[in-house]
Amino acid sequence: MRVDFYAGIQLDGDSPVPLYSQIMESIRRAVESGQILPLEKLPSEREIAEKLNVNRLTVRQAVGELVSAGILTRRRGLGTYVARPKVEQALNKLTSFTEDMRNRGFRTATRLLELQIAPADRKVSQALGVAPDEPVIAVERLRLADEEPMALEVSHLPAARFPDLLLHKHELAHTSLYEILRACYNVTLDVAEETLEARLASAKEASLLEIHSGSPVLQRERVTLDQDGTPVEFVRSLYRADRYKFMVRMGR
Ligand code: GLP
Repeated sequence: MRVDFYAGIQLDGDSPVPLYSQIMESIRRAVESGQILPLEKLPSEREIAEKLNVNRLTVRQAVGELVSAGILTRRRGLGTYVARPKVEQALNKLTSFTEDMRNRGFRTATRLLELQIAPADRKVSQALGVAPDEPVIAVERLRLADEEPMALEVSHLPAARFPDLLLHKHELAHTSLYEILRACYNVTLDVAEETLEARLASAKEASLLEIHSGSPVLQRERVTLDQDGTPVEFVRSLYRADRYKFMVRMGR
């Protein structure tokens, strides 16, 4: 941490604004103005309290609120750091994880967690427009960027249309599903419909995504259609809420 950390913090004991809030806003401003940079380590709460001559609990409250707001992150046993800026992804273009991450200069990796054929449940059959219980291929993958887990995805595809997709196990573990669909099945993806909602990660999801159990995640469900308007995949993606924000441009 550079020495000017304390320079931006001027506390006013006579102000009606509580001290924790003054400290919080000072740190927030320092982060937003780039005075302290992403991944920089903050001094310990004890040191901040001593330097500012305030109670340690006051500092703890200020830091705690900034952690909840995603501006700071606590790393167990290591200390508190300025959070990395989130990946901002536009929602108005039908892209794949691999394309998105490569365009940003990240190295992508995939861990194939499950690949199986199973009867479609009600939701999957409706989304794909296949009869209930018709066989679908389920592909569960953990998606990583620069070695860090970003999203957990389960894609469902009609088995009748992609009968030998299971044979592409190696590619599914290493490359893009959309690229496989294009190169091996001549599928041109055209449009997708998505929903986006917030929820909390289960213990299993959190452990795969390397976040604390109960952390917020952003769940997207996508039905992707080909040029003929036929559903090709139904996918549920769980994005780490501490790493992603979504952007959409809307007209009026
Ligand atoms: C994104 C989308 C998924 C889609 C996936 C395909 O992650 N949210 O709906 O299935 O991209 O990615 P790739 O072609 O890299 O496997």
